[in-house]
Amino acid sequence: METSNSKTLSSGMTEEEIYAQACEVLPGGTSRNTVFRKPHPNYAASASGCYITDIYGVSRIDFANNMASLIHGHAHPAIVEAVIDQVKNGTAYTSATLAEVRLAQLLCDRVPSFDKIRFVNSGTEAVMAMIKAARAYTGKPKIAKAEGAYHGSYDFVEVSQLSNPANWGDINSPENVPLVSGTPRGVLNDVVVFPFNDLERTLAILDRYADEIACIIIDPVPHRVGLIRANNEYIAALHNWSRKNGSLLVFDEVISFRTNYQGAQENYQVKPDITAMGKIIGGGFPVGAIAGSSEIMKLLDPREPNLRFPLSGTFSANPVSMTAGRVAMELFDREAVQNLNALTQLAINQIEQAIKIADVPVTLTGSGSMFKIHLKEKPPVSYREAYESKEFNTLTNLLINHLYNQNIILTNNCSCMFSTALGQKEADMLADALLSGFRLIKPELEKLHK
Ligand SMILES: Cc1ncc(COP(=O)(O)O)c(C=O)c1O
Repeated sequence: METSNSKTLSSGMTEEEIYAQACEVLPGGTSRNTVFRKPHPNYAASASGCYITDIYGVSRIDFANNMASLIHGHAHPAIVEAVIDQVKNGTAYTSATLAEVRLAQLLCDRVPSFDKIRFVNSGTEAVMAMIKAARAYTGKPKIAKAEGAYHGSYDFVEVSQLSNPANWGDINSPENVPLVSGTPRGVLNDVVVFPFNDLERTLAILDRYADEIACIIIDPVPHRVGLIRANNEYIAALHNWSRKNGSLLVFDEVISFRTNYQGAQENYQVKPDITAMGKIIGGGFPVGAIAGSSEIMKLLDPREPNLRFPLSGTFSANPVSMTAGRVAMELFDREAVQNLNALTQLAINQIEQAIKIADVPVTLTGSGSMFKIHLKEKPPVSYREAYESKEFNTLTNLLINHLYNQNIILTNNCSCMFSTALGQKEADMLADALLSGFRLIKPELEKLHK
């Protein structure tokens, strides 16, 4: 690992100076709130495999992988080579390409619920398209979503994304809390919010709007809810409810698709009517997609005399993302998925050991190649249980910063999204750094738990 103590660049600029310049032209000096850190973001210069090197030459092990999107880490040679070949032949055309057909074929062969797929440019766009498809198919206006679930930046799914104890209301009837100031009342009125994994309450809430719900949207492992897996009985009951009431059950697998060879849906007997994807299927480039049965996906077919859902996008299915995605997904075959999940499980076991040694009230949740660290005694089972007060959040940030100073990068909500570029050596380093981090926060954490 290459390190340097010099805090100036060859250009003579420090991170502070770059950030000051950034603040002149970017709100808060950043383009993504997820990469913002206090006092300023870290500026990356390059990355390879499981390491990111910053502009000072400091290399860190990457357990965030661009928010779970880089399943093979950075600059995988096979992906780089295929992308360079494609770039030399052009990056986007007002024409279709074989590259999109090949990735579509791969995904439709891989997942039984996918007859047809439509590519877009991001997870947000995929979720938006999925909801519009559900409305067009059912002729109903409302969507039902879990409290605290993150599904990107579409108005409707943003509702109650960041509910907190001061505004979330009665659990039997959670408040529809707007995320963005100025969200129209009409948007709030067309969203039904239910508590994730709470079967009885969810069904009671859905029943109140039985005739109006176009789709129930579920992320089977929602990270902002607490990276808690939706249980089988819950998914089966939602599916059953949707059949009885003429709605669709749709999955947001933008992040959870990495958990199994066929996505998180492989865990359930019932399958979603539509699936939204993003992240790993772009091989490190911007992408999104929706997939489902031929009958539903016909909505998007421009050959239909009565086209119910016209959809285009300047960069949709661009051959760079399609090529990178195909190579990444070919490499992420059944064996690679199993090996990655097994490595992640080993790391979890090591961290659980560190929790025991440090004797701290800390627990892990997750699925497949992702897990989240909670400063709680027991694994939370709901958004409200997983919710972190300001005091706990301060300690979580202390832990994240401690790891960062030991050259280990987690996501800003203290989760790890493994890549196939990681190995046992990095898992050992993570467990060791966490052990010292747990010891560091222990006195304050114990005070908070009293
Ligand atoms: C579950 C889920 N849905 C949707 C999105 C939005 O995807 P994108 O950031 O590509 O718009 C994300 C991104 O983190 C996500 O995790």
